[in-house]
Amino acid sequence: MTQNIEQLKAQILELTREYSRQVHGMNRPGNDADRPPFIAGKSPVAYAGRVFTEDEVEAAVSSTLDFWLTLGKEGAAFEAELASLLGIKATLLVNSGSSANLIALSTLTSPLIDANRRLRTGDEVITCAAGFPTTVAPIIQNGCIPVFVDSDVHTGNINVEQLESAFTEGQTKAIMIAHTLGNPFDLATVLQFCKKHHLWLIEDNCDALGCTYTMPKQLANDLGFTKNSPGLDAGEDFIIRYTGSWGDISTQSFYPPHHLTMGEGGAVNIVSSMKLKRIAESFRDWGRDCWCPSGKDNTCGKRFDWQLGELPDGYDHKYIYSHLGYNLKPLDIQAAIGRVQLKRLPEFINTRKQNWEYLRRGLANLEEFFDFSLPTHATSWSLSGFTWDESACQTDCSWFGFLLLVKPTSPFTNSLLARHLDNLKIGNRMLFGGNLLKQPVMVQLKQESPDKIKIAGEMTGADILMNQGLFLGTYPGLTQAMLDYEIEQIQQFVKSY
Ligand SMILES: Cc1ncc(COP(=O)(O)O)c(C=O)c1O
Repeated sequence: MTQNIEQLKAQILELTREYSRQVHGMNRPGNDADRPPFIAGKSPVAYAGRVFTEDEVEAAVSSTLDFWLTLGKEGAAFEAELASLLGIKATLLVNSGSSANLIALSTLTSPLIDANRRLRTGDEVITCAAGFPTTVAPIIQNGCIPVFVDSDVHTGNINVEQLESAFTEGQTKAIMIAHTLGNPFDLATVLQFCKKHHLWLIEDNCDALGCTYTMPKQLANDLGFTKNSPGLDAGEDFIIRYTGSWGDISTQSFYPPHHLTMGEGGAVNIVSSMKLKRIAESFRDWGRDCWCPSGKDNTCGKRFDWQLGELPDGYDHKYIYSHLGYNLKPLDIQAAIGRVQLKRLPEFINTRKQNWEYLRRGLANLEEFFDFSLPTHATSWSLSGFTWDESACQTDCSWFGFLLLVKPTSPFTNSLLARHLDNLKIGNRMLFGGNLLKQPVMVQLKQESPDKIKIAGEMTGADILMNQGLFLGTYPGLTQAMLDYEIEQIQQFVKSY
């Protein structure tokens, strides 16, 4: 009987693989020989999307047949694998990057956090005006005040020069910012600032899985970092670590455009202390005090021996709540898909870099019309690569997209270019919400409760990114023919003026 069941599963999975090979050819990696050909002008060029083969589909079906459904062995394995890749204490799977951000910020409000560092209603959190809304929303949702800092137009990242003016003694407790489009922000300056003022750092790493940041060893040691991320080495004088492994907590998104996908999904990475894991897990899992995984009881060994709050002595620990939590868990099936994707990550990261470089070279003659972005700390780009101050910090970008700014002197605007590309089915995006302060939700908030947000200075950079910016895809589903088509069409568009 067992033998038959195993054979049956093997047959289903073999058929699943065959089905996937026949149906999902367009989702194979861009360099896969079995991908159907690209037909210029007919086939769309997506800016991002799922890249998978029959391996992911098999993993999903296999997990579905097991029908455990809620987080289980696949989830636990994925969490361990991602944490070990980043070289951090732990990872918690959640159902989206936005949920990860919500949990990360909520974690810092817990009564289990030391009183002088705990975030309370009215405390301030420094964030960026340009970017994605759910990097900022959890600050307000938790009753704290976001203090908006401007962005650097060359990198799309936080303008660190405004940090001091955003700080208020006794009120500022944390910084929560994203590595924009796979370009690490200036971690050295931000971490030094956090150390000086005893602030938490939440890195929104949703768009930046696989980026690295290299810091001179002495500086890294002063900031408490003595080890490279596993498998990385930048020589004796430097420490190199993945983004998402420098702050106290970091977050990932596994929504399809991101570096790896499981459909919906995200992660909270616990970097600085295991105490944060226990709290984050509680916020993810209904706010409960108990930390048993699904389907398990009595992990703590004293399930009926707790007395907490004003509950009777011995009340079942499974139903004791120490936080106002949520239920933000994904399915085990998602984790099964994610585990296959994780194996592809090194190749995905490489391809993103190659695609960025290919677009940069193909558009290099258009510098009169466009400002092209630079990795943080790079001083210029040329055909022979980026230039850096070799003794200082460096970044290696796992590009989420290819950001360009249409110069104000150009005879066209970013939105004219966007419309043109859209008509040609060439996927492109603005830098998410642009200057978030101009979004209807923020305008309304400013009008109704002006004391609920603060602005550290002029938001000139965020406005430029909004008014002139546009990004193209770098995702590993792009083929060389697609990239050539994009380049050719942009060249023709510019020539037409
Ligand atoms: C920087 C950043 N943070 C958070 C998110 C939210 O992730 P999710 O879509 O999984 O909720 C995104 C989404 O793309 C993002 O770009």
